[in-house]
Amino acid sequence: MAHDDPGVRYRELLDELNDHNYRYHVLDAPVIDDNAYDALYRELRELEDRYPELADVDSPTSRVGGPVAQAFQPITHRERMFSLDNAMDAGELDAWRDRIVGVLGREPDGYSCELKIDGLAVSLTYVDGRLVTAATRGDGTTGEDVTANVRTIQSVPLRLRGEPPAVMEVRGEIYLPVSEFEALNRRQAEQGLQPYINPRNTAAGSVRQKDPATTATRNLAIWVYQVGFVDGGPAFTSHTEQMAWLSDLGLRVNPANASVESFDDVVAYVERATRQRHDRDYETDGIVIKVDSLADQRSIGFTARSPRWAIAYKLPPEEKTTILEEIRINVGRTGAVTPYAVLRPVFVGGVTVANATLHNEGEIHRKDVRPGDTVVVRRAGDVIPEVVGPVPDLRPAGLEAWHMPERCPFCDNPIVLPEGQAKARCTGGYECPSRLREYLFHFASRGAMDIEGLGYKTVDLLLAEGMISDPADIYSLTVDDLTDLEGWKETSATNLVNAIEASKTRPLRHVIFALGIDHVGATVAGLLARRYRSLQALLDAEADGIAEIDGIGPEIAGSVHAWFRIDENVDLVQRLGAAGVVLEDDDETADMDERLAGMTLVITGTLERFTRDEAKDAVVGRGGKVTGSVSGKTSALVAGANAGSKLAKAESLGVPVLDEAAFAELLDKGSEALGP
Ligand code: IVH
Repeated sequence: MAHDDPGVRYRELLDELNDHNYRYHVLDAPVIDDNAYDALYRELRELEDRYPELADVDSPTSRVGGPVAQAFQPITHRERMFSLDNAMDAGELDAWRDRIVGVLGREPDGYSCELKIDGLAVSLTYVDGRLVTAATRGDGTTGEDVTANVRTIQSVPLRLRGEPPAVMEVRGEIYLPVSEFEALNRRQAEQGLQPYINPRNTAAGSVRQKDPATTATRNLAIWVYQVGFVDGGPAFTSHTEQMAWLSDLGLRVNPANASVESFDDVVAYVERATRQRHDRDYETDGIVIKVDSLADQRSIGFTARSPRWAIAYKLPPEEKTTILEEIRINVGRTGAVTPYAVLRPVFVGGVTVANATLHNEGEIHRKDVRPGDTVVVRRAGDVIPEVVGPVPDLRPAGLEAWHMPERCPFCDNPIVLPEGQAKARCTGGYECPSRLREYLFHFASRGAMDIEGLGYKTVDLLLAEGMISDPADIYSLTVDDLTDLEGWKETSATNLVNAIEASKTRPLRHVIFALGIDHVGATVAGLLARRYRSLQALLDAEADGIAEIDGIGPEIAGSVHAWFRIDENVDLVQRLGAAGVVLEDDDETADMDERLAGMTLVITGTLERFTRDEAKDAVVGRGGKVTGSVSGKTSALVAGANAGSKLAKAESLGVPVLDEAAFAELLDKGSEALGP
């Protein structure tokens, strides 16, 4: 029952809201929904409007104040903020352990293993349980006052719970969740604005905003990991106890941290944390290992800049800068023109990156990357390398923006940008050697006609010798033709001819996919094959009819319809048929299997028994769909080894996650395998 006395009701609301805030932002375990929270919040604000004398200085409504005159003034830390020494590999980690054992004359009494959050260090000072200041690290002795901005971070308590000490400094890392970073960049893109480079820099920039209202929109968060100066707290024997105490006081301590007994456990933690690096909604750049016992810490001591009792085991950086030497273009199998970056090779995220797609001209201008720029290159987990943006300070004077060439460098036909589209196109058709090469490669690839042995190398050779000029020509190649080629013997020639012969009886969905129609991937090809059962029927179909298929929209339908209206395509289909390629599914070969009908799966990570194409084909062949990104509509995520951010996304959306065994069961039993 709500109380009649406004003062009493106000305190009640305040307690309730603070509690919900804590449950939501610190414990990550809300007990009421957003609407219920908003109703309480509104009631509190109305009381404050009506009875301003009631308003508590730390009310949830006070988180976002106006700009402060005294922003970023120096604040001297009561206890120094140390940084950490690094171990770059397992050997350096071992050496650290050896030094510790050397000093103590024995193994330490346990370790605390923690994720090293890639954000911005802050020191929060609480006096009598109230947040009084928040300061950046600065030079370790003196930082900057960022209190007004840090107050806007919902997981930073303005008031501690339980029995707080008289004075306490607590250290933690402010970070921008990856999901918030992505949402922010989507908003930037919608407004045609330049994207932010990475969550870390954006977090740092957000904390140094002049107006706290801007900081508040970023939805920053905090993990705390260390106690600084304390006056009046209980006595502790270990770091782990201190962290449990911080947690009891309502501060957000990362549950992924673990206290372990032995160094073997430390190594196991490091391996696990490294594997799971991309399964979280925040970026980590390492693992911090601390000797747990405070007595051991005192015996081991400090260097001038860092504690000897702790070390940061660094994970390989996923971002590096390099020079964007040149922007070139590629004409793909459908004639789409894609610009790509030619980079000075750089080792990032575990591989050497020399090229990266730039998608389209609009994207290049939005990011404002120019040939000659120093650019940030990112490769995280299994995600393809990306040019994130330029480093503006390093741009040489007079660097010009890049523009799409007017004519195709491969066939000299005009490049056009169709109205309302992002991707430019080469108008050269199959005359364009780049397009033809990509088309032939695609035609022969897995999931399409699956002609083993017909990769880029052979395609290039056959093109150079003038032996093929479109996919139908593949079917007239003979062993004699091939043995004439340099380096080709009877066996290799026979193998290829046999593989070509075998490809004539692929299911219709493979043939449709092989045709390389714009917007027709394996999934759409499967839907078309199910509906029409023959290429002739598809050729006769009207766009409206195609668009009636569940999972196919008007854009795809239009693209399919238009493809079959082009003479050169119709001619190709006829020649494929004449060469003996089966262009229909009979009752034997048809995909009558409906086990996964209506399901949409996303596949990520590495599977052991399937390649990505095979897994996809197995789903499509059973009437299911495969898409590239997890959303509320995803039926399940199939996650192999090293699954990345998609796993985190699925978990946050409550989408079921299947490992390889569960996926195999799904293929076998159909959607029932997922349970009710
Ligand atoms: S402990 C006395 N623990 O890493 C120990 N630092 O290079 C001081 N960091 O400045 C730091 N996660 O910004 C510690 N779990 C963690 C951390 C962590 C991130 C940052 C922090 C520090 C830097 C050291």
